Amino acid sequence: MKWTAAALMLSLACASAVVAAGPDPIVATRQSSMKEMAAAAKTIAGMFDGKLAYDAARFKAAAETIRARTGPALIAEFPSATLGAPSGAKLEIDQARPEFEALAHHIGALATTLTAKAERAPASITDDMRMGSGPAMSGGSLLGKRPAAAQANPAQVPAEHLLHLILQDCSSCHSKFRQKAL
Ligand code: HEC
Repeated sequence: MKWTAAALMLSLACASAVVAAGPDPIVATRQSSMKEMAAAAKTIAGMFDGKLAYDAARFKAAAETIRARTGPALIAEFPSATLGAPSGAKLEIDQARPEFEALAHHIGALATTLTAKAERAPASITDDMRMGSGPAMSGGSLLGKRPAAAQANPAQVPAEHLLHLILQDCSSCHSKFRQKAL
């Protein structure tokens, strides 16, 4: 009888430890997806900045890391029941689903284009991969022409510029839908 009571108490203690322990697995998974995207973006940026040795296979893997975690995959990581504190996802995501999803799809399309470019990437960085090259730059003022060209045909935008557009989407979403996690 004593043994049973002890076992029962132990199992209750374990059950409450599970409840108290750590975040919701969905939240933990999306936070690690986000961290993986941040690391991948840093890798690509580092290669273009010359802080990291360029490596076509690593570039491809990093682009794919972002592609696989944006679009529908990103949307699926934010079910309603997991929003709000203690996570860093604002409740506003639920009130502005179309906007949240549009951002997820926009960054997903850019990442898909970047991945396609990375798949054909040469063994060393070429000038046409760099910001400021390509048809987006021909004629007109830099600031005026580039975003319009990017809208028209992302496939013609140099890889480095695509990365910048991707990072803008990260920031746009964070400034509206992310809060400091508790
Ligand atoms: C459509 C919206 C959206 C996009 C796009 C987005 N994020 Fe996030 N991100 C969030 C939200 C919301 C959180 C908070 C998640 C949470 O705490 O549950 C977050 C959290 C993070 C975190 C913190 C993770 C942690 O450990 O708590 C990092 C780092 C991050 N994002 C990086 C990125 C990078 C890099 C990109 C672009 C490549 C990106 N995010 C694109 C919405 C977005």
